[in-house]
Amino acid sequence: MSETRDLGGAVDGGGVERVVLTAHEIAARVAELAHEITGAYPGNEPLLVLGLLKGSFIFMADLVRQLDRPVLVDFLVAASYGEGTVSSGEVRLLYEPETGLEGKHVILIEDIVDSGTTINRLVPVLVEREPRSLEICALLHKRLSAKLALEPRWVGFDAPQEFLVGYGLDHGESFRQLPFIGSLKSPQ
Ligand code: IMP
Ligand code: MG
Repeated sequence: MSETRDLGGAVDGGGVERVVLTAHEIAARVAELAHEITGAYPGNEPLLVLGLLKGSFIFMADLVRQLDRPVLVDFLVAASYGEGTVSSGEVRLLYEPETGLEGKHVILIEDIVDSGTTINRLVPVLVEREPRSLEICALLHKRLSAKLALEPRWVGFDAPQEFLVGYGLDHGESFRQLPFIGSLKSPQ
């Protein structure tokens, strides 16, 4: 993948208006985040890295491969948006992690924090399981929510207030495979 912001060529970004973050920019920031997370925990206890599916799957895969310490991986699934581009305010839990959280250092991996509904709904559920610590690492943060139950300790990028796709983020399940992050064309 070239570092160009041009959508033409190898990748079909059909429906994408402009490239907001190139694959190269994302990779550089993910490496920094992995380095910071690796250094943030004393000792050699495993981190339980908990990916919020589906949007975090590419970010998580890139991140965990650069964590230089023992890691456990699990996932949870919450559905909030359906096919739309505006938060419905509802979050459904469809899958829970099998790994026990109790006594573990847990990092929740989010693709993007938008209204904050997902985080505000999930954090109490996770805290109830008595992890030793709980932090959030979000690739993108729109900085819209006045009050989050837990502010992400690590944020990849502040995001523009547009609907973004690619690098795991979808619109109606499309665009997740794009190696860059782009903004979607507004519906005509
Ligand atoms: P929140 O609950 O409003 O904070 O939204 C969080 C979830 O909504 C994210 O995990 C994404 O799955 C989805 N989402 C929010 N904004 C966007 C966006 O710009 N593009 C794609 N998905 C988004
Ligand atoms: Mg989504």
